[in-house]
Amino acid sequence: MNFNIAVIPGDGIGPDITEQAILVLQKVGEKFNHSFTFTEVLAGGIAIDKRGKALPEDTLEICKTSDAVLLGAVGGPKWDTLPGNERPEQALLGLRSALGLFANLRPALLYEPLKEACTLRPDLVEGGLDLMVVRELTGGIYFGERGFREGKYGEEAYDTEAYSKVEVERIARVAFDIAMQRDKKLTSVDKANILESSRLWRAVVEEVSKEYPEVELNHLYVDNTAMQLVRNPKQFDVIVTSNMFGDILSDEASMITGSIGMLPSASLGEGTLGMYEPIHGSAPDIAGQNKANPLATILSVAMMLRHSFHLEEEAKAVEEAVVGVLEKGYRTGDIMSSGMTQVGTKEMGQLVLENL
Ligand code: IPM
Ligand code: MG
Repeated sequence: MNFNIAVIPGDGIGPDITEQAILVLQKVGEKFNHSFTFTEVLAGGIAIDKRGKALPEDTLEICKTSDAVLLGAVGGPKWDTLPGNERPEQALLGLRSALGLFANLRPALLYEPLKEACTLRPDLVEGGLDLMVVRELTGGIYFGERGFREGKYGEEAYDTEAYSKVEVERIARVAFDIAMQRDKKLTSVDKANILESSRLWRAVVEEVSKEYPEVELNHLYVDNTAMQLVRNPKQFDVIVTSNMFGDILSDEASMITGSIGMLPSASLGEGTLGMYEPIHGSAPDIAGQNKANPLATILSVAMMLRHSFHLEEEAKAVEEAVVGVLEKGYRTGDIMSSGMTQVGTKEMGQLVLENL
């Protein structure tokens, strides 16, 4: 089969890590007899520099007509002083929204060989850790009305959190479906003791739960969840939450699995088109230095094979190749521990290829 993939290397370490992920896909193609066509497009800070805007129309058009989008990272200090609506991050939000990618899957897996890199007490993660954060991605405060206005203390800035029933319903269904394929435990995270939008969220999730009698559902406040994640992370199977809470909790979940450099993500909508990216940022301080960990991006490609192309065997092969490299003791700087062999971005990519 042939698949068209739009590639957005983006900024900072984006080009370093997407390069390795592409090599992995090419190897998968050779091994399993698929062909992947890559079209590189501009978005983020580099698009601002070259084209005057973070998300050029042709980029969006090519992404829309592809089978999947692979994204490295966007943003950096160079563009930090631009007005909010002109920042590189707007490319990401614009893509998610324009492509209708409302469901963001962020699996947090503690790989056995990486136990040492986990920042929690070993007994808390004994036997491994495997949770899935399902983050709503095209609603809430990241997309709500915002601006400046005259307030009690003079000029103030404001952002708005708003959720409709439809938005909550569809993300809840995605989360329940995933829970059905896992341990059938779903935790819905909100701040229903304060926020009206959270009370609606909770009521809608309750309603949807009637369609999934086998799934054990519980509700937690976001502050409590942040605490529970470091107190007893193994109590979680699937977490479903809003855009902002999911952004925050998935970074926290990533750290308890060893490194933010390890976590992939898939952004999905109603169809099979998806966008795949590591959850980490553009790390401008190490860009172009062959230091970045490419594994989160390589694992994102595994998610692409699974969710957009329905190639489960191929997806597993990539995941197993990554575990194989870790088992052999190879580490990038971010997951380095004593007795292991430190390697750079390119070497790590090459090692995954050899293990495929
Ligand atoms: C993420 C990132 C983005 C987000 C930024 C870069 C816009 O933090 O994917 O988690 O907030 O969604
Ligand atoms: Mg984030």
